[in-house]
Amino acid sequence: MQVEHNVSLQALNSFGIAARAAALVRVRGAEDVRAVLADPELGPQPKFVLGAGSNIVLRGDVRPVVLKVEARGRRILDGGARHMLVEAAAGESWHDLVCWMLAQGLYGLENLALIPGTVGAAPVQNIGAYGLELQDRFDSLDAIDLRTGKLFTLNAAQCGFGYRDSVFKHALAGQALILRVRLALPKAWQPVLGYQDLERKMQETGIARPSARQVFDWVVAIRRAKLPDPAQIGSAGSFFKNPTVTAEQCQDIIGRDPKMVHYPMPDGSFKLAAGWLIDACGWRGKRMGNAGVHERQALVLINAGGPEQPATGGEVMTLARAIQTSVYERFGIRLEPEPVLV
Ligand code: EPU
Repeated sequence: MQVEHNVSLQALNSFGIAARAAALVRVRGAEDVRAVLADPELGPQPKFVLGAGSNIVLRGDVRPVVLKVEARGRRILDGGARHMLVEAAAGESWHDLVCWMLAQGLYGLENLALIPGTVGAAPVQNIGAYGLELQDRFDSLDAIDLRTGKLFTLNAAQCGFGYRDSVFKHALAGQALILRVRLALPKAWQPVLGYQDLERKMQETGIARPSARQVFDWVVAIRRAKLPDPAQIGSAGSFFKNPTVTAEQCQDIIGRDPKMVHYPMPDGSFKLAAGWLIDACGWRGKRMGNAGVHERQALVLINAGGPEQPATGGEVMTLARAIQTSVYERFGIRLEPEPVLV
């Protein structure tokens, strides 16, 4: 085990916030975690698990011991008659896994192409895009208990998946490190269409029965057109969750703002597009200090100062609070941050 002290995290979080970690250990497997737990100095301290840092906001320096997950490897397992089972280590890049699976003829993840981050982070927030969520392709995961060093396995029900949510944001927050994730891909592949942007692609191209490769290419093109290129502009993806409201609340807002984007949910409630609400409050392209709102997607807060003058965590949170206030004042809706606030 090698402990790095006073480490800059600027290159280790996709927002590019210039915070530091008091101590950082690179974790390649369970043994590295056990070595940390057995260490007289590090063992008793709180731990913070870091993947690719693409869904976090560092509000300041990180005091807990940072466990940077670097476990690698992926393999195909026997998934029985109906599924293909793929196991990937937590430190693998999510998008590389999607590309590798496509190349192997393993279909079913294409809607989740180009989502930044690691395989291990995917279940934490139950990543989702274009009509598909991780939970739709999830089999199980292996994790290590950060108090006892014991390995354990969770199935989908035990992960408590919800919209951008799981047990790792609640009961197991700060208490477990995911080592491996197993995904189950149906052998009888069907494209997941129906999301507005994909429907538009079908109409534009005249392709009614796209291949997995075609869906992948569409998703990549849609994301590139809307979301900032992580290599150019720092961000943590969507900064707020899309809020859910009652039918009455939804009708009330539509009465005043007929164009508001809303989606009916199976339970009779309505999901609203937070990006639309923020955009309607005039925030798109705006800047406060070195933090800004992306000019093509108001749901994405960006590091507008670039690597030279990076936004501080405080600036990002000040902007986020200003947005929350104006959306609340105009629509009566409280937006909830989507990334993990560290
Ligand atoms: N909209 C605006 N103005 C904006 C942004 C959006 O009017 O500035 C409108 C769009 O025109 C559209 C609606 O709002 O009618 C929804 O926008 P979009 O389809 O871009 O999706 P989203 O709801 O903003 C969610 C996810 C994204 C995911 C996309 C596609 C959340 C918090 N975000 O965004 O996930 O890629 O759907 O499925 O659920 C992420 O979690 O980091 C993320 C990028």
